Parts: sequence; structure tokens; C-alpha cells
Amino acid sequence: MLLGGLLMTAIAGVMALGALHPATLRCEYRTDPLGIDVAAPRLSWTLEAKPRGQMQAAYQVLVASSPGTLRHDQGDLWDSGKVASDRSVQIVYGGQPLASRQRVWWKVRVWDQQDHPSDYSAPAWWEMGLLQPADWKAQWIGFQTVPDTSQSGPAPYLRQTFAVQKGVRQARLYASAMGLYKAFLNGRRVGDDIFTPGWTDYHKRIQVQTYDVTDLIRSGQNAIGVILGDGWYCGNVGWTGRNHYGPMPRALVQLEITYRDGTTQTLVSDSSWKGAAGPILASDLLMGETYDARKEMPGWDRPRFNDAGWDNVTALPRESREDFPGGVPLVAQYAPTVQQVDEIHPIGIAEHPQGAYVFDLGQNMVGWARLRVSGPAGTTVTLRFAEMLNPDGTIYTANLRRAKCTDHYTLKGQGEEVYEPSFTFHGFRYVEVTGYPGTPGLDAITGIVVHSNTPPSGTFACSNPMVNQLQHNIVWGQRGNYLEVPTDCPQRDERLGWMGDAQIFARTGTYNMDIAAFMTKWIQDVEDAQSPEGAYSDISPRVKDDMADGAPGWGDAGVIVPWTLYAVYDDTRLIERHYESMAKWIDYIHAANPNLLWENRRNHDFGDWLNIDADIPRDVMATAYFAYDAHLLAQMAQALGKADDAQKYQQLFEGIRDAFDTAFVSPDGRIKGDTQTCYVLALRFDLLPENLRPLAAQHLVENIQKRDGHLSTGFIGVGYLLPTLTRTGHLDVAYRLLNNDTFPSWGYSIKHGATTIWERWDGWTEEKGFQNPGMNSFNHYSLGSVGEWLYETVAGIDLDPTQPGYKHMILHPQPGGGLTWAQATYDSLYGPITSDWKLDNGAFSWKVTVPANTTATVYVPAKDAAGVTESGHPANQAEGVKFLRMEAGFAVYAIGSGDYTFTSPQ
Ligand code: BGC
Repeated sequence: MLLGGLLMTAIAGVMALGALHPATLRCEYRTDPLGIDVAAPRLSWTLEAKPRGQMQAAYQVLVASSPGTLRHDQGDLWDSGKVASDRSVQIVYGGQPLASRQRVWWKVRVWDQQDHPSDYSAPAWWEMGLLQPADWKAQWIGFQTVPDTSQSGPAPYLRQTFAVQKGVRQARLYASAMGLYKAFLNGRRVGDDIFTPGWTDYHKRIQVQTYDVTDLIRSGQNAIGVILGDGWYCGNVGWTGRNHYGPMPRALVQLEITYRDGTTQTLVSDSSWKGAAGPILASDLLMGETYDARKEMPGWDRPRFNDAGWDNVTALPRESREDFPGGVPLVAQYAPTVQQVDEIHPIGIAEHPQGAYVFDLGQNMVGWARLRVSGPAGTTVTLRFAEMLNPDGTIYTANLRRAKCTDHYTLKGQGEEVYEPSFTFHGFRYVEVTGYPGTPGLDAITGIVVHSNTPPSGTFACSNPMVNQLQHNIVWGQRGNYLEVPTDCPQRDERLGWMGDAQIFARTGTYNMDIAAFMTKWIQDVEDAQSPEGAYSDISPRVKDDMADGAPGWGDAGVIVPWTLYAVYDDTRLIERHYESMAKWIDYIHAANPNLLWENRRNHDFGDWLNIDADIPRDVMATAYFAYDAHLLAQMAQALGKADDAQKYQQLFEGIRDAFDTAFVSPDGRIKGDTQTCYVLALRFDLLPENLRPLAAQHLVENIQKRDGHLSTGFIGVGYLLPTLTRTGHLDVAYRLLNNDTFPSWGYSIKHGATTIWERWDGWTEEKGFQNPGMNSFNHYSLGSVGEWLYETVAGIDLDPTQPGYKHMILHPQPGGGLTWAQATYDSLYGPITSDWKLDNGAFSWKVTVPANTTATVYVPAKDAAGVTESGHPANQAEGVKFLRMEAGFAVYAIGSGDYTFTSPQ
């Protein structure tokens, strides 16, 4: 009887458990981040739920100082209590202040709408880094290997030994550099990050990485080693030459060991370290690396190595750098680091006269080649890299400009040798190998693909293979160019954070990869690069102090990218943090242009860069962006509760819009310049009175028709072209442009073998061959900004900026262009969204997944609502489906979370 009673209670307990289960706990967008410096980090979780229409009614977060405390359901650092809220992302930690080095454990439970609680989630953690300058005991150490710093010299190898006598509980390595560093402990590499500490304006902030090195520490003698590279700090940056931030690289290292008995030991970089030159004879991100394996020092990073021949390093106190008295703030690494994400094997080798072998990797990629070789000591193998081949099959390097992109490896002559460079990267599909002893096999070269390791978040595919190749090329363009900062290109002597490129591609970028943390870091670079007067730089990080800045469409990235991150990730902290900076930019333009046409202070004024003989008048483009900025800032002010500012910027927007219309728009809807981009910007940025919109759209369509159904847009117009055609009722024209494979079109480059997005529509043409090599990259993502349209219109996954972060989404696929199916997935902060439709036997059938704790408005193509079904039932009677209205050939429904299958006869 008693047993039966217990059983009943247990069953009742199980049944009372809610329909929601929290999972995927994230802190500041990351899983279990180590070494953060955000005082009140933001927490997010996803919710798993089977039944439809699930929303979170309340949550409780516990944050504890030990796993044991958390296991007892105690949040000694923070117990949020039961908070009635449907928020499950960006929950701000509200507990006790956290100290340097403190690790905390956390979990969450939630209540569903029936007030049933879930179990607690599995635990997660985060750990604070070194928060105070006083935490640092380390000094900046360097070792000058050559007196002349006008060229890259041998990379310094630095080492120190230390003894460990007691049992180790944990060990952390806090490390940074002016330059690049690779750290080693007892012969093992620390972490797998590349190009650390990453690229920032080293005059303003330098990032620090934190590593858990507990497993690398041994009892007895230990050794720590660091190799320094020039990197952005003192190597070549863009076309501006060397020593941009300082003359020689230096490392900052602090190893903290906590013993099981509670005592601690700290080993820091200081003047007691030893330095030597090693096998890396020269290294430069743009020029390449020269490595002589005969100069290797086996065991240099192990304790028993004899360093009697090594010299003393030079040390500078952390707070007094030779070039920046007072020190530069050290900040925690925030974004994903660059890492190896893939390996590619060649698909062919061609032999050329004089013993040159050209390997084809089949994919334009970014990273380097791993070389496998055996041969006599002293033999030098040279690798050169290129994106394309000349007509005679040799590599096309003219477009690299000053970037030499050449690696040299000299063999030590000891069996098979495997070499990968440490401090350089190249953008290439072809590798030319000369000096190879013997005949190389395909396995002599492997392509090592690296980029900022932003987690993949979206997939797109459809029934047209050419469009799938386009998506492939967009993703590879993003991979190659999201490297520390969003860059224009990865191969020539440029590779810079060009703002125009970044802003036009950002929305597409959010679909393909989770770029929240990556862009959050970059937006700080953007603010760091802002001029004292308020101009955003055209390039961030800024590469020359005296550079002209604030170009229309480029500087505006400082407003457009934060807005995009707010819309996609519901990140109000980001827009709050940069609000003043954005306002200053708008005021900077406004002050010089009181009549609200952006005529003054346009500086470089690039226009619709790389358009096809159809440049936009510069005042039209500039004024359109000025209006757009004001409009976006008004909405961001609203989101931040700054009602007065929201009104002020809304009024400014309306004023600019009126000035634009008066100055540039005729009563028949024609816009000064009459180019496609003129119409696209005016329509997209809501600059036209309602009655002129259809007329302007008609001019746009006629312009396309006059070009025999082709586009003429450059970087600025291209991203908005298909979305604007779609919104103005010209879906057929949008699909026509997508499907084109004649010049100029995306399909044209694909027909000619493109595996990434080209910088220019005419990078190579049948008539002219290669364009001017001064500006001819084959891996520039800007023209790939059509990617957002593939997700939002072809597959039909879009957000609703009034409920940002995909809290409410718009699922609105618009079939056309002969496609018979399309499918996309997008991993939002709330969990995976899918849209998967096909046209089959005259019926549209569509599978949709909406994550728990979100809602969607879905648009089913239908002549009338009567024929629409959901999982076999009339849609308006289906569980959790509410019919809203018919709209322009779509039956529109409101749904909550869950899996749905709609069908509709066509
Ligand atoms: C870059 C572009 C950039 C442009 C400015 C070029 O050299 O590669 O992508 O936006 O300059 O117009």
C-alpha cells in the first residue's frame, strides 16, 4: 500500500514535469567560455519541446561558486528566483560581483504555460580572466634577432624553465603578444588557436587568451616556450608597409598554478627568460614564410634542453611600453579565434618546364599548404600561391600586387619532413612547387583551411545546381574573409576591414555562421577607428592615422552592422555600448550638411563600387545612407527606451527623406542618375512617397530590361537588388537575375569555374581575359550579399525586427525561377528553424520547424485558403494554426513552435 502510494507520487511528479526542457546553455554567445572579462555576462538557453505552441512562462537561473553547491540546487552567487518571463536569451547575470579567475557553475529551469516546471538543465560554467591591471605581474619580453626591422627577420624563440614539486589542482596560461605568438609547454602546443592574440588596434587594446594547461604541467622540471611572429603588429599591413604598430614583437605570459594544497605559483615573462633565433628565418602575413629545418632546435621547449648558447631577452614593464607610455588596456579574447577548420586534397598536378609543379586544390581557399617532402639536407622547396592560372597553365600572380605569398622550406634531410608555416596565410586555389627533390605525388601538398572559427549556423539548397554553387561560393567567400576582422580579400596586399564590404554582406553573414561574437569584437574595432570628429574610418582597424575616412556606404557600417546584430541576436547591450559613437557619426554628417543633403565631408566617396558603367551620383547615394542611418538609429533609440532620441532621429530621417525627394526625385518617380542602384537604395531605405514607389520600381525594372535582363549594380546596390524587386512585386525579375549566366551575373563567374565570389563581375571575361591586375581579386564576398535573399525569399526564413532575435519570425517562401524545391535551416539563439518546400504534381508542400518559445507568421502560397492543409487537416482547423488573412497570393497563418507540414494545390 505504502509502496503503491510512493509509486503514485512518483508518477504524478513525472507527469507534472513541464513540456519544456532547457538545453544549449550559452554565456556571451559561447559554450563554457574561459577567461572572459564581462562583469555581468548574458546567458541564453534553448528549449526542447515536443508539443506545439510551447512558450516559456518563467525561468530560474542558479549560479554557484562550486559544482557541489549547484548540485544541491543552490545559487550562492545568484539565484534569480522564479522570474515570470518568456525571455530565454540575453539574460543578464544579476548576482554577486565576480573576481578575477573566478569560475562559476550555472543551470536553469523553466516553467511552461501550465506552470509546470522543467528539470534543471545540465550544468554549464564560465570563468573570469584577469580583470585588473594589478593582476598582471608579467612583463613584455622580446628578443631582437636582427638590428634592421625594415624587413622580417628570424622569429624569436623564447623559453624558461620552472619546477613543480607538489600536486597540481589547476593551471592557467594567460598570454598575449604585440605581434603573434605560439606557446608551448613541455614540448606540446598550448591550444589550437592561430594568429593569436588576434588583430585589434594595438594602440588601443590588446587581447589576451586564457588556456587551461592543467594537463600539460608535469611534476619536476617544466619548460615553457613561445615563438613570436611579426603579424599585423610589425609585419606588412595592407599596402602601408611594415612596423605599423611597433618595431619588434613582444610576448606577455603569465602561468598560474594552483596546487592541491591551495597554494599557488606564478611564472611570468620577465628578463630572466632566454631567447634565440630558430628555423623561421622570416615570416610575414602578406609575404610568406622562410623556414630552414636545419636550424631547428629539437627540444627547445622542453626542460632538459641546453640553452647555454641562448641570450637574455629584453623586458618592459606591462604598463610602460616603449611606444605607448602608460600601457595599453589588455582585454579578454571575445570572438572565436582563427583555427584550422578543414583540409583539402589536390585534384590534380601539372608539370611545367624547369621542374615547376602546379597543384590544383579545386577550391579557392584561405590558409596555407602543408608540404610533405624527403630529400637531401639543404634542398630548398619554394611554394607560390595563386587563385587562377594564366592561359599557359602557369600561376596567375599579377593580382597579388606587392604580396609575395611565397613560402620557402629548406630540408634537414632526415626522412619524410612535414612543414606548415606559422605566421602567414595565403588566398589560393593553385600551389606552384619548385625545387622539389624528385617527383611530387598528390599527397605532397594539402590545403589547410583557416578562418575565424565562427560556428556554422545555416544551410541552403535548392533544385538549381548553379544556385547551389552560388551558395557554396558565398560560404567560401565568408570563410576566407572572416579572418580576425571582416576583410575585403585574403590574397593581395590589402586584406583589410573595409567597411562597405562588411556592411553589405553582414546580413548574409549572419545566416551562414554565428557571427555574433565575431562582429561584437569588430564593432569595437570600428569604434576604436572613429576619428575624434566622429567620422567612422573606411577601414577598421584603421591602418593609417592620416587616412581619409567617412565615405558614404563605408562609414555607415558603424550603424548598419550594430543594427543587424541587434535584429538577429536581440543584442541591446551592443547597441547601447556603441550608441554614443553612432550618434556622433550622424551628428558629424549633419553638422556639415545642415540642408540634409550629404554634400560635404564625403572624402573618398567610392560610389557604387565596381558597378557596370552605371555609377550612382554621389550625392544621391550619400544622402540615402544618411537617411538610412538616422532611421536605424531612431529604431535603436526606441529599443533602448530613449524616447526623445527616437523622435529626434525619426524627425531627422523624415527631413532627409524630404530633402532627398525634393532634390533628386521627379514627379514621375525618376531618380537623379537613373541607375539601378538609385532606385534600389531609395526603395529599400523607404525614401519615396507611397505613390512614387511603384513608378520607381517600374524604372528599375525597365533599366534591367534595357540591359537585356541584366544587373548593373556594384557593391552598394547588389545586396538590396533582389529583395527590392521582390518587395515591389517583381519576383520574376529577381529570379531572372538569379538564373542568368550571361555577363554580368553570378552565373557568369560560375559558368567559368568560380568557387568563390569574385571581386568584379568582369574579373575574367571571354572577350578580355583577366581584368586590370591592380584590382582583381577572386575572393571578395561583397557581390555575394545576394545570399540573404536566398534564405529569406527562396527558402523563406526571415526575422521580424520588432521582435528581434527571431523571437517572432516570418516564414515566407516565394517559389519562382523554375525551382521545384528549396530548403534552408537556420540555427537561431532559440534553436533550429527549418523551411523545406517542394512543388510536386501541382501541389506545394512545405515542412516547417519553429523553435520553442518563439512564434511565426507563415505564408503559404495559395489561391484561396480553403485548399490549404496542415498534416492532413484543413489548415484552419489544425492544432496551433490560426488563419490570419489572404495576402497577395498567400494564405497567412500564425503558428507557435513545433513541426508542421503544409500543403496547398497550385
Ligand atoms: C577594396 C574594396 C574596398 C574598396 C574601397 C578596394 O581596394 O578591395 O573591397 O571596399 O577598395 O572602394
